[in-house]
Amino acid sequence: MLRNVGDVDLWEIDNVIPRPDLLDRVVTADALYCMLTEQVDSVLLQAAPRLRVVSNMAVGVDNIDLLACTSRQIPVGHTPGVLTEATADLAMALLLAAARRLGEGIDYARSGQWGEFRPDLLLGREVHSSVIGIVGMGRIGSAVARRATGFGMSIRYTGPSAKPAIEHELGAVRRDLAGLLTESDHVVLTAPLNPATYHLIDERALTLMKPNATLVNVARGPLVDTDALVVALETGAIAAAGLDVTDPEPLPIDHPLLDAPNCVVIPHLGSASVKTREEMAELAARNVIRGLAGEPLEACANPRVYG
Ligand code: DGY
Repeated sequence: MLRNVGDVDLWEIDNVIPRPDLLDRVVTADALYCMLTEQVDSVLLQAAPRLRVVSNMAVGVDNIDLLACTSRQIPVGHTPGVLTEATADLAMALLLAAARRLGEGIDYARSGQWGEFRPDLLLGREVHSSVIGIVGMGRIGSAVARRATGFGMSIRYTGPSAKPAIEHELGAVRRDLAGLLTESDHVVLTAPLNPATYHLIDERALTLMKPNATLVNVARGPLVDTDALVVALETGAIAAAGLDVTDPEPLPIDHPLLDAPNCVVIPHLGSASVKTREEMAELAARNVIRGLAGEPLEACANPRVYG
């Protein structure tokens, strides 16, 4: 798609482009097609005098200085919508895995310890008919909520604005964060990372959660204070966590979260289905093409750029 509209300078090596290479290569770029691993900040923008469009192959844009792009009149494309359902599927998978102790069960079955049936083996917490608290009732949060109704769950949510349509459709009840944490059996984070959500789940927040509760994060790692989470899982302040995203990312191999039996960690796979990643890649390419043509992007994270 991109080669039809211009010369493509592709980072061919299958790892994240080192920052110096990126800064060298953007010098002549009219468009930047990037991932959440690239920091698009004022230093990069200064190195890229010709840049007319940035396209992130992700819905989250916390790797991009939106204000700096807007002040340079550079639209920033992202990929909302196409990854909603795949990410909500994965949130439910993590919730089920953490609450029902699937990680421990898999390890146990593989370890050779599996003997006779035991009525008290690896007992977990109920998912059906429980209370789910969704932090951030946007597209992904709403898709998680719809799935939760299939499990007969009652829905609490918190976020900057009320969602009357979701309240009406799913019986979701809006709470402040403290109320949501206190009432929920399972808490799922789907909010974007920004200064207001950084370390939203800190030591105090974890203390408010039920001792039997599960925390699931499919948003961004820094929504959670990692050190506080380690302590909460060790001391039993909460029962379990399911993490698709962590802070830092990747976690060092000797990190306590990777050793914690009550923590399921997977490597940022929320949108990682073949179909969804193809749709993200194509939407991000269409955003580049429109940006180069001076047309409004199909999905723009800084619409203020259009005045
Ligand atoms: C996103 O799109 O922001 C995800 O984290 C990666 O798919």
